[in-house]
Amino acid sequence: MIWPAEDIWQSCVPLLPALTVEVLKEVDSTNSELMRRARSGQTDPVLLVAQSQTAGRGRLGRQWHAQAGDALTFSLGLMLHPADWSGLSLAVGLSVVESLDPQGSLGLQLKWPNDIWVHDKSNQWAKLAGILIETAVTQKQDRYCVIGVGINISKPSVQDLSIPAIGLREILNSASAPQTLARIAYPLLATALAFEAKGFAPLQMAFEQRDVLRDRPVTLSDGRQGIARGVDNTGVLRVETPQGNQLIHSAEVRVRPSIEESP
Ligand code: BTN
Repeated sequence: MIWPAEDIWQSCVPLLPALTVEVLKEVDSTNSELMRRARSGQTDPVLLVAQSQTAGRGRLGRQWHAQAGDALTFSLGLMLHPADWSGLSLAVGLSVVESLDPQGSLGLQLKWPNDIWVHDKSNQWAKLAGILIETAVTQKQDRYCVIGVGINISKPSVQDLSIPAIGLREILNSASAPQTLARIAYPLLATALAFEAKGFAPLQMAFEQRDVLRDRPVTLSDGRQGIARGVDNTGVLRVETPQGNQLIHSAEVRVRPSIEESP
């Protein structure tokens, strides 16, 4: 597989001069690799791409499955100093969705807090991509941030049973992992840097346009049920329940639409 690493580096380096772009044939997980590096003191900014991951990780301790060549798997590692970290996964998701589907014509949407969903041919929601953000505290008590992105290019053979998966090739005539990375890398870096400066608030309206859950009944993994009412200006999910309005922070719970709906 040929990766446009040089072109991506050329476009991104004006934003972040110390950035390197690295492509590995195989690694356990690009997130794990960058977290290991950060813990051993390597905190330079890097875009690390893996053609294949042997132990890809998802949110809440889940595995991220992808056959070599069937997915784009990479992590962007960089020092970040935002005033508030809340909403970063939404900002990242929004950047990816807007890069891949700028007009909204493909129907890519964001499922709070870290998934990209789209309707499949039978009008059921299916997961196209997921985001896993981790941070490592450095010796100077700063944070090195690892933004992991996994995008299915073809439909994966092993799937998370709770939601069907879909590949980008099923909704775009042609798509490859290198091409997809070339589309999303620069906007993603720009988004991370803008988030550091301004937080999630400027993106709240744009998120609203792509919010899968908005005004839909939802069930939380702790059993609570209610109607999702969008996010506040820090990206916290608002859920209207019989017990009153609840604010849901991403680390705690898994949220699912209660009923499958057609678009
Ligand atoms: C999720 O859906 O729960 C998040 C999935 C994140 C997968 C990506 S693939 C690149 C990076 N490395 C990992 O091990 N995970 C993330």
